[in-house]
Amino acid sequence: MESKELVKEAFKARENSYSPYSGFSVGAALLCKNGKVYRGCNMENAAYSPGICAERAAIYKAVSEGDKEFSKIAIVGGPTGGKIEKYAFPCGVCRQVMMEFVNPDNFIIVVAISENEYKEYTLKELLPEGFGPDNL
Ligand code: THU
Repeated sequence: MESKELVKEAFKARENSYSPYSGFSVGAALLCKNGKVYRGCNMENAAYSPGICAERAAIYKAVSEGDKEFSKIAIVGGPTGGKIEKYAFPCGVCRQVMMEFVNPDNFIIVVAISENEYKEYTLKELLPEGFGPDNL
């Protein structure tokens, strides 16, 4: 799947963001090697720490459905109801969770501000010398 299409999916995922505390809505769309796409959004909580990022929501949805071979993830984030002006990069915890399941040399992270404005990185670029299952 082309990145532009995956970005569209991330925008759809973002519509379901539950982020009343930060006012920052994030959507992610995770492409599996078998072609399936899992959407995720950030979900916050009155007790704060139980909240989860959009990227991890998408990854855990996929793993819980038996899919754990991933090729790419698209991420969009910005103020709820506002225009997206900055690229939203995955937090460190989400990068670490990606590291658990993918080859950091090949897995692509797409950060977007619109369907036509996006940048692509490998996980290795965003998490150099990461610690993963191969290190144990
Ligand atoms: N957030 C994500 O969903 N993904 C990230 O990679 C960074 C942050 C969420 C968490 C929280 O709900 C809101 O954005 C503000 O930090």
